[in-house]
Amino acid sequence: MTVIRTVLCELLSVRYPIMLAGMAGGPNTPELVGAVSRAGAFGVLGVTGTTVGAVEAATAEAQSHANGAPIGVNVQLAPTTPATGTFERMVEVLAPFRAELGLPREPARPPVPDPPHDLVEAALAGGARAVTTWHDPTPILAMCRAAAVPVIAMTTTVEGGRLARDAGVDAVIAQGAESGGHRSTFGRDAAMAAETGTLALVPQMRDALDGKLPIIASGGIADGRGIAAAMLVGAVGVSLGTVFLPALESGVAPIHREALRGLQPEDTIVTDAVTGRPARWIRNRIVDALATADVGTLGWGDQGAHLADIRRAAAEQGRADLLPMLAGQAAGLAPAPCPADLIVADLVAGTHAALAMARGAAGPA
Ligand SMILES: Cc1cc2nc3c(=O)[nH]c(=O)nc-3n(C[C@H](O)[C@H](O)[C@H](O)COP(=O)(O)O)c2cc1C
Repeated sequence: MTVIRTVLCELLSVRYPIMLAGMAGGPNTPELVGAVSRAGAFGVLGVTGTTVGAVEAATAEAQSHANGAPIGVNVQLAPTTPATGTFERMVEVLAPFRAELGLPREPARPPVPDPPHDLVEAALAGGARAVTTWHDPTPILAMCRAAAVPVIAMTTTVEGGRLARDAGVDAVIAQGAESGGHRSTFGRDAAMAAETGTLALVPQMRDALDGKLPIIASGGIADGRGIAAAMLVGAVGVSLGTVFLPALESGVAPIHREALRGLQPEDTIVTDAVTGRPARWIRNRIVDALATADVGTLGWGDQGAHLADIRRAAAEQGRADLLPMLAGQAAGLAPAPCPADLIVADLVAGTHAALAMARGAAGPA
């Protein structure tokens, strides 16, 4: 199975050019990260919102599950943003949901996480072998250079790709609009909702960067057909989030795993109403209510914190209508719950099949 070996395999020292996207906030447990790496792909811890102690423990545990295969770390670097709405209006909009969940009318402030720089430092000290970034990678570049660890910046625009190249990253993740989760949009176009799809973004970013910087495709890819397509338009690999959410090792709430089954692309929407920055969510009562409330947000940082106890309570109480859940447009292609190594094996086999089909369809040269 060497057909899909690319420069990304050299950069990350892996068998397959497939990365588990960094997913903070629960999905990427050390077990999932280790299992993905052990299977020959590249597992990435999502450490945003945690503490140095938690990162040290997770890095060590993920490596023990990886059986000597390398793992990486992902961090969100976007600065906080000012509120566009008021605290009082947000409390009003969320009051009925909080009452249903048995929560007080106003949330308590959640604990403050350690700064992203310290989290990456702890992961590097623990042996993480690559760093992927969400937002402008500049703040952690020097530290990674000193540790001789590659930095891979995710961006949603061609302009972001140029900025990341000029900053000195080793590769770029081109994040298409289909992606689940938050959009890594920065630079001149920071305020954009990031509307460019993966198949349009990858080849144009490749052209803009003169084919010199490896480009990894992310967004809307959940089987071998998607991986083959991304490679045919110039990607050297892929970074996949949603397809790994159903893995038995993933830490998503059971109702989140359940909600992915049979999901249609149109069942997800991009809105900044949940956290203060645009992200793709599964549509449900609370996401729709926030997206249509027209009350602004408390800004990136405070808006997410304001909903932290709602998310916790909704997950604990099994309330799929009140739990904001991230997922990409290809969720319907994700497998039924199964071990992560099977997901990796299926992705690899599917990519070979799709590439063989493309060769057959093209006929003799
Ligand atoms: C549940 C979830 C959480 C995510 N969290 C992060 C994160 O912490 N950092 C990050 O860089 N990207 C995050 N993303 C975005 C992924 O890096 C990736 O771009 C996306 O999952 C690709 O699209 P796909 O879900 O269709 O595979 C997240 C995505 C999901 C679905």
